[in-house]
Amino acid sequence: PNDNPASDAKRQELTDKPAFGQVFSDNMTHMSWTKGEGWSDRRVEPYAPLKLDPGASVLHYAQECFEGLKAYHHDDGSVWLFRPDANANRFRNSAKRLYLPELPVDDFLGSVAALVKRDAAWVPTRREYTLYMRPFLFASEPFLGVRAPEEVDYCVIASPSGPYFPGGVKPVNIWVEDTWFRTGPGGTGFAKCGGNYAASLVGEYRGIENDCEQVCFVDAATKTYLEELGGMNMFAVHKDGHLETPSLTGNILPGVTRNSIIQLAQDEGRDVVETMIKLQDLLDDIKSGEVTEVFACGTAAIITPIGHFKSEKFDVTVGDGGSGEYTVATRNKLLGIQLGEIEDPHDWMWKV
Ligand code: COI
Repeated sequence: PNDNPASDAKRQELTDKPAFGQVFSDNMTHMSWTKGEGWSDRRVEPYAPLKLDPGASVLHYAQECFEGLKAYHHDDGSVWLFRPDANANRFRNSAKRLYLPELPVDDFLGSVAALVKRDAAWVPTRREYTLYMRPFLFASEPFLGVRAPEEVDYCVIASPSGPYFPGGVKPVNIWVEDTWFRTGPGGTGFAKCGGNYAASLVGEYRGIENDCEQVCFVDAATKTYLEELGGMNMFAVHKDGHLETPSLTGNILPGVTRNSIIQLAQDEGRDVVETMIKLQDLLDDIKSGEVTEVFACGTAAIITPIGHFKSEKFDVTVGDGGSGEYTVATRNKLLGIQLGEIEDPHDWMWKV
């Protein structure tokens, strides 16, 4: 552990910062893996730059995957994680796709919990602010041949963070990208790997040039079906109350928030259709009023209303461009469960 932690005043200043992912807590957890020994050397150590050989395979061939989950402060002072078992299982699936060793679920849970416990003072108390946990796994062996890694490192770092999009439930504009794709059939779309996010940036910045906060990808094979946003999933709310969301074709990330929203909607007796959604159908349904709300969702984004879909060819306003009623209610319900304010019907919360 860090013998030289931030002072209380400094920590308070940093945990109240509104931005996402800009500051880091005092410590990190770390484990190592080698082909011969398997996993070993579980440790909590001071947060510090990694010593990485310039020949490390990850720097050349991107053998890396990661997770994102949050630690929530409850009013009684306790600290909780939301569905960390779901992240642990997805992490294993991502590792398999990248030909990296799979971390046992107990090691994932133990490493995240150990860091939250050690750096509990870094969990923000301000509403909607959390300690964002970032587990990641990478091929650290210095070797320039392309093959399964024989040395791998796994770390967890923690960042006291505000909402991904500052400004509460303010609707965001979405750029629909049909030239540059993040993945394709048989690619890495379902894995949470850095490469997917790197591939999203050309589209993301085309969006930023056009006053959009996020990019939305259509499928690379036919340029017809909606997939996901640069770093989050998406739902459409229909006027009869049912929800539609792009199905898990293998091209999109199986979001923990996505899955939780489906469950909460079904608890209310709503139909949720996981299907291939044609971009043109969605735009037509928005214009006709058949679709009344569209929102983005993810661990970082929570639930964020979408105000406009834009491209070189169109600019379509969703509803009146404001925050829809169902979007806001579902956001409040999910946050209520995460913050311990309302009942947790599915035992999603894990006390640390
Ligand atoms: C998350 O929601 O946890 C992510 O990893 C998405 C990223 C855009 C921050």
